[in-house]
Amino acid sequence: MNTLELKTLPELPFDVTEALNQLRVNLEFCGSEVKTIMITSSTPNEGKSYVSLNLWRAIANMGHRVLLIDADIRNSEMRTKYGIRSNSTLHGITHYLAGKIELDDAIYKTNVANGYMIPMTVPAANPPILLSNGRLGKIIETCRDQFDYILVDTPPLTVVADAMQIGPYCDGTVLVVRGGVTSRKLVDRSVQMAQKIGIPLLGVVLNRVEYKVNSGGYYYKRYYGYDKDHA
Ligand SMILES: Nc1ncnc2c1ncn2[C@@H]1O[C@H](COP(=O)(O)OP(=O)(O)OP(=O)(O)O)[C@@H](O)[C@H]1O
Ligand SMILES: [Mg+2]
Repeated sequence: MNTLELKTLPELPFDVTEALNQLRVNLEFCGSEVKTIMITSSTPNEGKSYVSLNLWRAIANMGHRVLLIDADIRNSEMRTKYGIRSNSTLHGITHYLAGKIELDDAIYKTNVANGYMIPMTVPAANPPILLSNGRLGKIIETCRDQFDYILVDTPPLTVVADAMQIGPYCDGTVLVVRGGVTSRKLVDRSVQMAQKIGIPLLGVVLNRVEYKVNSGGYYYKRYYGYDKDHA
């Protein structure tokens, strides 16, 4: 198997680590049949990739084999942002969806123990066609037996149709909401879109918001939250 190194993984503040662990534990309680989880949001820049990558690390740190699929085949920034380097020519999801490589050549073992990745390396010229040729389904079907969890990072729901095409292959979705920025109307629209494609909403992450939480007389500043009751 090819290997991949993420050179610039962010150090996470304590409260973010805790919120991610809460999210991880709540996803574990969704049942053993919930393995493939789509991470999406209503609009760009809400933190889907941040949540996907760091949830992936949190799950891997617990000793679960976890695959992160970068399915933002239009303009993923993960490769440059996290300094992703490989021991071989870097092929990714677009190559596999276009039928240019075998699935084994698209899956990379990473320097995060238990963490595997299908990166996005070349932007797709025609995402709707690539996402409807059945090969995404083949990835998920094959990988279900090889991994404890599969996380799928996607483009925003209300901007392009990609997540609507990806969702039906997943067991559930986590909706990332940028606090104080994304309107209630847009969030409602995303929830309706998830319902339309019949994918269970597993949880909502309230992200990129600074607020204070009173805990036993102490106030903590937070930049991240998880609302398990919203599902
Ligand atoms: N909880 C957080 N704490 C600190 N930085 C964050 C957090 N969430 C997101 N960011 C930062 O905000 C920016 C946007 O996040 P990210 O790229 O994950 O959004 P996205 O929803 O994936 O965007 P796109 O729709 O373009 O794919 C990035 O620079 C990311 O590092
Ligand atoms: Mg992203």
